[in-house]
Amino acid sequence: MVSAHKDHVLVGIPVLNETTDLRRNKSVWRTWNQLSRFQRSLIYMIFAVLFFMILYFIPNNTDSLIINYVETTQKGGLKKSGSDEVPGQVLEEPSLKGGFDPVQVNTSRLFFGPTTQQQKAVVEAFKHAWQGYKEFAWGHDNLKPISKNYYDWFGLGLTIIDSLDTMYIMGLQREYEEARTWVDKHLQFTHDRDVNLFEVTIRVLGSLLSIYHLTGDRMYLQKATNLGDRLLPCFETPSGVPYSDVNLHTMQAHPPRWSPDSSTAEVSTIQLEFRDLSRCTGDPKYEDAAAKVSVIIHGLKKTDGLVPIFINPQSGEFRSYSTITLGARGDSYYEYLLKQWLQTGKTIDYLRDDYVAAIKGIEKHLAKKTVPNGLVFLGEILAGGKDFKPKMDHLTCYLPGTLALGVHAGLPSKHLKLADDLMNTCYQTYAQQPTFLAPEITYFNMQGENSNDLYVKTNDAHNLLRPEFIESLWYMYQLTGNTTYQEWGWKIFEAFETYTKVKNGYTSIGNVKSVTNLKRRDMMETFFLGETLKYLYLLFSDDRKLIDLDKFVMNSEAHPLPIYSS
Ligand SMILES: *[C@@H]1O[C@H](CO)[C@@H](O)[C@H](O)[C@H]1NC(C)=O
Ligand SMILES: *[C@@H]1O[C@H](CO)[C@@H](O)[C@H](O)[C@H]1NC(C)=O
Repeated sequence: MVSAHKDHVLVGIPVLNETTDLRRNKSVWRTWNQLSRFQRSLIYMIFAVLFFMILYFIPNNTDSLIINYVETTQKGGLKKSGSDEVPGQVLEEPSLKGGFDPVQVNTSRLFFGPTTQQQKAVVEAFKHAWQGYKEFAWGHDNLKPISKNYYDWFGLGLTIIDSLDTMYIMGLQREYEEARTWVDKHLQFTHDRDVNLFEVTIRVLGSLLSIYHLTGDRMYLQKATNLGDRLLPCFETPSGVPYSDVNLHTMQAHPPRWSPDSSTAEVSTIQLEFRDLSRCTGDPKYEDAAAKVSVIIHGLKKTDGLVPIFINPQSGEFRSYSTITLGARGDSYYEYLLKQWLQTGKTIDYLRDDYVAAIKGIEKHLAKKTVPNGLVFLGEILAGGKDFKPKMDHLTCYLPGTLALGVHAGLPSKHLKLADDLMNTCYQTYAQQPTFLAPEITYFNMQGENSNDLYVKTNDAHNLLRPEFIESLWYMYQLTGNTTYQEWGWKIFEAFETYTKVKNGYTSIGNVKSVTNLKRRDMMETFFLGETLKYLYLLFSDDRKLIDLDKFVMNSEAHPLPIYSS
């Protein structure tokens, strides 16, 4: 039946059309032949003039593309200028319960592309990274730029997703549109595969919500809601402290294979995203689940505000005797105390109080000085307080930026002294290496047995293109206006260009201690595009408030989310 019907259409309609067209063509041709030579020349002239006018106006049109593009986003839904295709219009509305009240951010003034030479260089770096990814790893998580291959960690096209708002902020319209189309057509959360709750929340959920707020394009909210629903089973534990892993297809959650415990920083660095999802959808279940974790941790016994790095989802208690650190597995617990307080319009007092107590604890227990030159660093406490290890992860270099943000929000101004000291130390971890790139982990000299303040073990000498120090440079620059931070950022950017750039992208290196033995690792992390290059671009902007810290809070993966009034 169906094919018979089709035949009818195929035979019937085209024939009719053809006849009409032929008839029209014939009569035009006859009219043309009846014109005088003068009339015909006149028509040729008119076409020629029209042609040159079009040529003249095309460049102006191109200039106005970006403006047009940004203005349309104001009305909700990013529309592609200068093309017939209008993505986003034919999408179904997300099935959202309750009131929908998007925070529309006025970005029309801001994202026109680079205005300084340094920003231009950063955009070129981004394009270089993107080109390699597009050619050899499109749709996969990571580019392996040397082997021209890809790596899949969760199989979610992570590089594309992590880069969306970076491209939007850099004014890279064409690249942004390619990425948007991929998200719309190909991003699915139905792989039968375990993912890490924290990583997927900060990279994927955070990015989708951020670009949703910047553009008003509801396709992103629809995807974010779908993902949020698949992550929620993690919270179905006896205590409410989530499991670390979940299969997005079966929606089964479980602890990591190597331990019954979750990482403290992981379970406490998902609240900004889950809260924002609830605010966008009008459904409180996401915020409720994640905020409960913060309340639980608030109620646990701490060491002067400092927390052990493991917590048990069954009991809801810390694993006593686990390490206390501002590095891996501890770091962003402290970050999200402050940022949650800011996100909710400074209305949840315990978050601020726990943050201020923690900074006091850091000053008391973790901040030490090197011999001979008195560099301030943050060490680690092992085995429930028995041992102090003079070791600092590069991850810790996020803290000065967070401290400055807190002072900006009215917290004790002496925090800025610690921020200044740590900025200087983190800078030294770069400046003292022959590559001018920091290692993953630095050890500090407290005994004065030799003249070096810091040293690096062979196994810790890698650089993964991480953003944390650049992030702090941007906060410090935005909040103080001191251009020294731009100069430092530029030197580090140049080092990335010199030692990590390869033909098809940028690569992690295994050894920052030698310019002739870099041990390139053939891996481009998604945070290089999502965070490192974004923070560099923001750092080099003439407009210090390109992302205004009174309006946005950056999640742990550099995705800006709006600040609410409560
Ligand atoms: C957005 O900002 C621009 C430039 O500052 C301003 O002209 C425009 O009126 C603003 N739009 C809205 C909706 O607030
Ligand atoms: C800017 O920051 C640098 C590095 O911390 C510092 O040495 C310098 O004194 C600061 N300049 C001003 C004007 O505060």
